[in-house]
Amino acid sequence: MRRSGEMPLGCLACRLAPSAKHSDVVIASQATSYSYPMKRFAPSAERNQQPIGDVFSRYLRNCTSVLEIASGTGQHAVHLAASLPHLTWQPSDVDFDNVDSIKAYVAEADLPNLRAPIELDVTGEWPRIACDAVVCINMVHISPWHASEGLLRGASQCLPVGAPLLLYGPYIIDGDYQAQSNVEFHQWLRRRNPAWGVRELRDVEREAKKWGFTLADVQAMPANNHTVVFRRTT
Ligand SMILES: C[S@@+](CC[C@H](N)C(=O)[O-])C[C@H]1O[C@@H](n2cnc3c(N)ncnc32)[C@H](O)[C@@H]1O
Repeated sequence: MRRSGEMPLGCLACRLAPSAKHSDVVIASQATSYSYPMKRFAPSAERNQQPIGDVFSRYLRNCTSVLEIASGTGQHAVHLAASLPHLTWQPSDVDFDNVDSIKAYVAEADLPNLRAPIELDVTGEWPRIACDAVVCINMVHISPWHASEGLLRGASQCLPVGAPLLLYGPYIIDGDYQAQSNVEFHQWLRRRNPAWGVRELRDVEREAKKWGFTLADVQAMPANNHTVVFRRTT
């Protein structure tokens, strides 16, 4: 696992993001409580957690246990576990500092259905986890393409046929960036790391097919983001 200080993955990028729309500022030990100093805070997570919860709840209605990939600060895990109490929520991240932050949020929230985070790098071996849904918010564009490949491979190995894989973030759809701000965000990501960038949904769909997933739905979300719903069909 990595410390964000060692390898500037998503959350470091978030700190530096230029546009208010996409900015995902993560400030360690700021705007957090004295009891839980490891908590990080992302204003974007605060803004988008409600719309994400509203849309995700439709697809997670018949599920029992969710593996969240790239949980970041842990804010989404707490919000989603609290608003979907029928689900057991398993957060995870590759980054040490994020895992510490998630641990602090989990301890503070003290929810019966929210598990302690696990270390999970989507590009490596996935631990054996029983789950009937996988969700991944804002990782696909802030990681190299092989992370998306790893996500789809790993999700196919742990999900049963019929189970949903929910992705959230900005996407290019059939060549359309959906908004000028997404073009600028893509350019900014590329400057930060040439392997990052807003992905073409059809590329993700093509890769997903290799791993037995079918694109089931695409929902427009605030700030030109999308929820992308795959189902494991084979
Ligand atoms: C922009 S942050 C998003 C965090 C959170 N989901 C949110 O929306 O606030 C990107 C996240 O992807 C994670 N990440 C990047 N590469 C990863 C990998 N190979 N495996 C697992 N997580 C990864 C980072 O550690 C970070 O938490």
